[in-house]
Amino acid sequence: MILNTKSICKRLRDNIITLNHKRSPLLCCIAFSDNGATLSYFRGIEKSAEKVNTRVRQEILKGKSIKDTITFIESLNHESDVDGIIISRPLPLGFQKKGIKDIIDPVKDVDCVTDENLGRLITGDFKYIPPTPGAVMEIIKEFRIETAGKNTIILGRSDVVGKPLTMLLLQKGVDTTITICHSKTRSLSSYTRTADILITAIGRPKFLKSDMVRPGSVVIDVGINVKDGKLVGDIDFEDVNRVASMVTPTPGGVGPVTTYILLLNVAKAAKRK
Ligand SMILES: NC(=O)c1ccc[n+]([C@@H]2O[C@H](COP(=O)([O-])OP(=O)(O)OC[C@H]3O[C@@H](n4cnc5c(N)ncnc54)[C@H](OP(=O)(O)O)[C@@H]3O)[C@@H](O)[C@H]2O)c1
Repeated sequence: MILNTKSICKRLRDNIITLNHKRSPLLCCIAFSDNGATLSYFRGIEKSAEKVNTRVRQEILKGKSIKDTITFIESLNHESDVDGIIISRPLPLGFQKKGIKDIIDPVKDVDCVTDENLGRLITGDFKYIPPTPGAVMEIIKEFRIETAGKNTIILGRSDVVGKPLTMLLLQKGVDTTITICHSKTRSLSSYTRTADILITAIGRPKFLKSDMVRPGSVVIDVGINVKDGKLVGDIDFEDVNRVASMVTPTPGGVGPVTTYILLLNVAKAAKRK
């Protein structure tokens, strides 16, 4: 079964429109370069934002120093019209070390990247659900995928996907047993073949083949990669679809849900003010 996420997107859209009925909130998208990938990421957000009465402002900070960037983000924190702030990844090297993301006011951190908001995932007392892990949880809920007592394997341990997703899946009520694999994991297939639920977030186009998947398992593909000019996931979709019981497509699976969760966070941020 191919997991079509259109119904989840519709539900989220309706929810956001209701929250935004009085005022159109403003999301500020910061990038450090105007390359194609960044611009198409922002265009995707803008397209979805238009449907849910949300304004998007792009700020391309090309060539700005770290000091000026910090001052700029602080000014956005104080700008009352700005409800949410996101920073496009990857950040330039020097900027990563300086903790630029933590300059964002946690109340406006709708991408859930600051240490404060990420840390809150440990106790479950969080303001915003991180968009991509949140999208995976929505898919699990929507398709009533059984998690209690099941074996869940996550490929990838990034701060954006693997680690926060682990925190969400560890919550009481979800009750799954989790193993996280990464680039230094030995004999990856010996883990992936034990999975009832397999979640891939490694950024390797069509990496996961059917012989790495337990027949009948659920496969959720977070990866978004470009191969031969096409968008593909971390799984070899046609091949894996032959053995899995449920599988998300790329494009059209996790990605669109992620964008609407981000926009839901913007709507919540606006209400919070
Ligand atoms: N659908 C969405 O909304 C959405 C959102 C965000 C990201 N993504 C996509 O998700 C993918 C991952 O993104 P990310 O930001 O998490 O990437 P990332 O920061 O580069 O992290 C990749 C992770 O995968 C691991 N890894 C790499 N190669 C591996 C291999 N051969 N076997 C096992 N593990 C391996 C890495 O291990 P080490 O830690 O050992 O290096 C790392 O933990 C990308 O394709 C990205 O475009 C999609």
